[in-house]
Parts: sequence; C-alpha cells; structure tokens
Amino acid sequence: MTQHTTETLMWDDVMRAGAAAEDRSIIDLFATDADRASGFAAEFDGLLLDYSKTSIDAAAREALLALADKAKVAERREAMFSGEKINETEGRAVLHTALRNLSGSPVMVEGKDVMPGVLDTLARMEAFAADLRDGGFTGQGGAITDVVNIGIGGSDLGPVMGYIALSPYRDGPRCHYIANVDGAHVADVLAPLDPETTLIIVASKTFTTIETMTNARAAWAWMAEKVKTPGEQFAALSSNPGETTKWGIAPERVFGFEDWVGGRYSMWGPIGLSLMLAIGPDDFRAFLQGAADMDAHFRSAPFERNLPVLLALVGIWHNQVQGHATRAVLPYEQRLRRLPAYLQQLEMESNGKSVAMDGSALDMQSGPIVWGEPGTNGQHAFYQLIHQGTRVVPCEFLVGAQGHEPELAHQHELLVANCLAQSEALLRGRSLDEARAIMAAKGLTGDELDRQARHRVFPGNRPSITIAYPLLTPGTLGRIVALYEHRVFVEGVILGINSYDQWGVELGKELALALEPVLKGEDPGKGKDGSTLALAGWMRAHGLS
Ligand code: F6P
Repeated sequence: MTQHTTETLMWDDVMRAGAAAEDRSIIDLFATDADRASGFAAEFDGLLLDYSKTSIDAAAREALLALADKAKVAERREAMFSGEKINETEGRAVLHTALRNLSGSPVMVEGKDVMPGVLDTLARMEAFAADLRDGGFTGQGGAITDVVNIGIGGSDLGPVMGYIALSPYRDGPRCHYIANVDGAHVADVLAPLDPETTLIIVASKTFTTIETMTNARAAWAWMAEKVKTPGEQFAALSSNPGETTKWGIAPERVFGFEDWVGGRYSMWGPIGLSLMLAIGPDDFRAFLQGAADMDAHFRSAPFERNLPVLLALVGIWHNQVQGHATRAVLPYEQRLRRLPAYLQQLEMESNGKSVAMDGSALDMQSGPIVWGEPGTNGQHAFYQLIHQGTRVVPCEFLVGAQGHEPELAHQHELLVANCLAQSEALLRGRSLDEARAIMAAKGLTGDELDRQARHRVFPGNRPSITIAYPLLTPGTLGRIVALYEHRVFVEGVILGINSYDQWGVELGKELALALEPVLKGEDPGKGKDGSTLALAGWMRAHGLS
C-alpha cells in the first residue's frame, strides 16, 4: 500500500466499478436502459453534456459521485470561491471567478473585498475600449485599425481562442497575436501593419517573460521607425506594476490584476482586452456573464446534475480508472479551432503534476494528454487511429445546433451529421460479419473476402461525450470555458494536487538562459550532456544567427 492509504481506500469502489466495466458493451447499456440518453446527460442554460456513450453505468456513476464527495470537492470549491489560499505552493488565492462576478457581490481576500478593484479595472477597460472604437483614442496616423497582443501561454491562448471563436461579433479593430520568440512570428505579423494606426498590447502577468519582453522590444523598435513616441501606442496588462512603469507606458493604459488570477485563467480580466476591443464591451460582458452563470451552477447544482463535476468524473473514469492516457477535444465548430490548444494549457499545465499537495508522490496517473483539431478536418487526418488503432482515445465532441451563416444552413447540417456520425461510429463499430457482407456484396469470395473484410472491421465500444449548444454566442463561449476550468479544478481536487502552480515549466527556462553563451561559443558548457553540446556545436557550424 502506498503512503496514500486513505486516498487509496477512497478510490476502491471506483476501481471496482472500473473493473466491472472492463468488458462492458456501451451499446448494450442502451439496449437495457431505454432512457439512457437522457439519464446520462445533464443540461444547464442551453448547454448539454451527453455522457451516455461512455461505459459509465448507474453503479459506476454512484461510485464516482461518492469519490467526489470523499475528496471533499464541495468544501474545496467553497474554499476557492471564498478566497482561501488554495494555491498552497505559491501562497495564493484562486479567484479568476471574481473577474466575471458582474454582480459585484463581495469576494474577500485576507479580509478585504476585491470586487471594487475588479469592477474599477473592468470599467477602465471598457472606457478605453469605447474610446478607441469610437476613434477618440488614436494612433499618430489616425484611428486605430489594428491591435497586436504580445503575450504567451495564458496571456495569448485565451484571447486568441476567444477572438477566433467570436468572429461574428467583431466590429472593432483587427487583432493580431504574437507569442513565439521566433523572430518569424513578430516579423510576419507586423509586416503588413501600419505602425501609425496600430496599438501594441504587452500582455504578461509577470512582465518578465523573456519571449514577451523580447517581442515587445522588437515591436517598440518597429514602431519607433515611424512613430515619434511609441509608448503612446502601447498598453500593458500585468500584475507587476513595478515592471510596467519601466516601459514608460502611461498609467491610463496599464491594466492591472492581482496574483490570485492564474495566467491560464486570466482571459476574463485585462488579458482579455484585445477581445473586448474586437467585440465591444457589451459582448465582452455577455461572455463574462456566461461564465458567471456557469460559476453559479457549479457552486449550487447537486453533483449528479452539475456539469463541471460530471465532466470531471468522466475524465477521471477514462484516465485514472480505465487508463486511457489521452483525451481528444474535437469541436465541430471551425471557430473553436484554437480551443484544443487553449485546453491543452488549461488542463496540462494545471493537472500535469506527479506530487500531491502534501508533497508525497501521486499514486495515480496525473491529468490526461489533451489534444485535438476541429471536425471535420480531423476526420480526414487522424480519426483513422481513433476508429481502428489499438489504443482507445476518449473523444469530446463540441457542436452547435446553429451556425452563424443562415445562407449556408445546408453546410451546417452536414457538419452536425458528421459530428453525430463519428460518435455513433465509435460506439457501434462494424463487426466482421457486417464487413464480410459488404465485401460479399462487392463480389468477393473465399480467402480474399475474409482478408479484405478484416481490414474493414471497426471494434466500436469507444467512448465519447458530446457537448452541444444552440449557437456559439459570447455567453455560450463563457459557459464552455468556465465549464472546463471547473472540470480541471474538480479533477485536481480528486487527485489531491495543486492545479494552480506550474513549477514544471521553470527548468527549461533556466537552461535556455544558461545555453545562450554556449550557443555563442563564449562558454564551453562544462557539465552539459554530450547530445546538447553536440547540437549546440552543430548549430554554430551551420551558421547559427
Ligand atoms: O511559463 C509558463 C507561464 O508562466 C504560464 O503559466 C503563463 O501563462 C505564461 O508563462 C506567460 O506568463 P506571463 O503572463 O507572466 O508572461
């Protein structure tokens, strides 16, 4: 028995349920329960979570719900919402929910209500956005036509994802995003832009991230070629005012937030400024409200109808109980094409830990590997493995009943048909007999019929969930993102880890800094491994510049 005796015992019933489900046929669950589709689904505010195409049956669900109880999800949830320092390794509260608490109801951190500050910053962002969108705030060459957000990780992925997702709501300046320290990124994004009508937003919680600061300096130099005072066309988003002042950006264009907002949870506040500029303050508020509604649901709905809790339990079932290491996020919504990348950071940076909160080794698998692409594109690329490969990949489909293009409704129907067909195919599969019948109808016989039929067998019984919504509006997007945020929280609580630090990104940063002089040939790199030294040497020999 590991050190986690109580935790291990806590898992016993779920693991037993998992063992009982090993040979279970999901499709048979439908045959024995006519109401399975509705019984294994939950809906909130137009958002449907269908988890009926998983091997979870009533007993497994009961065990999973009991696991959430035993892990004290409810208590931890209240601790989070009420400003306790649940990010114990950094000594911080976790309050991204306060950023969308439009009601302004008090949220206390160390005895102080943080809401007046949050709402004041939101009002300042809105005033700036209105001024810029109305042509009051201009560049040296006139109205701002383009906005460039320079940030990385949580200071990039959220705003980019939201900007693409909500393109039908855009009526402001065009936004562009630079993240990679590869000079190609800054060069390609800036090349077509006019510095005199461009606003640069430097988005960085710490304002020390080397990629962002390097790109910001490049953008400053680009602007300085045509604009007398570049700082006047710069804005800063950060929780480190000490660093932003060094850049000489006027305080009215510095939008701050507190250290209790994690980078990957920050698109609701100042880090979302580019999105607000693009879609306007009203639609940005609708986005916040959607998330706030999901917060209220998460906080009050019984676990058996609680979307984030159920989504987390499905995740635990597939990963920790059934041992499926990855999770594919497959939006049948072209405008959600960056959602998988966004969720990759949200889930993998949050729950990719092998040490429990108390410092002991995790005796479970950590969070899953998250990946994905929009459907239908993925169907013509990697779905082959999902359908017929030897590994099982639980799939998460997202799909809207309506598109924003009424004149292309027939295409939307095709999209939805494809989405539903994929989860159906994963569930149902195709037996050898069915494949043989198909081959026989084509005129094949004997060994050749048999051989060809085997290649056309689909094992089926592959789990998926579907998240459906009427239309991808700002409110819907807010609900979806908050749903996933809370899912990550619940999974983290059940695993007993801290979902809010990210120490695993530090070592690479330190080593990159130490490698610079080695690459320049100024340092022999004593103590470094042979491969790294050889690669550095190869780069130098091949004209590193
Ligand atoms: O290195 C990881 C990380 O700290 C992420 O957690 C964060 O979202 C990203 O870098 C960017 O950090 P910052 O907003 O401080 O520039």
